[in-house]
Amino acid sequence: MKTLTHTYSKFTLCIILCSLFCVAFSCKKNPATQAPTNVDFTLDLTSADNAGLKNNGGYEIKNNILIIRYDNGPNKRFYAVQANCTYGQCLLMYDASNMVIQCPCHGCLFDVLTGTATQPPATVPLGVYLTTLTVNSLRIHSA
Ligand code: FES
Repeated sequence: MKTLTHTYSKFTLCIILCSLFCVAFSCKKNPATQAPTNVDFTLDLTSADNAGLKNNGGYEIKNNILIIRYDNGPNKRFYAVQANCTYGQCLLMYDASNMVIQCPCHGCLFDVLTGTATQPPATVPLGVYLTTLTVNSLRIHSA
């Protein structure tokens, strides 16, 4: 009987500690999952630092923004979204063969064009940014 009471107390203590942990950490919005604001920077596409954007299907992460080259036929097109998953805080990557943004941590997927979460566990869309290409300068900026 004494052992049963002891076990019950351990279980109760565990429930209380887990609940406190949830309140303290899990239930708050993780700042790392929030989209950067007031974004405005320019990349030189001829620089070796931006080699990931040289070819269609490539990508780079700069200033917490995931920049993807997603051409439409002969026209160069670039899309920019926040680089961190909205579910956790893992860095996202672009899967060019399936044309989706994916999170390597729990497998969620996002639409390249809109940032919409298309496969759970993430449900919150990615922050998206405008891109403006002028010859070899690519500006990434907030709306
Ligand atoms: S952190 Fe992205 S799916 Fe888990």
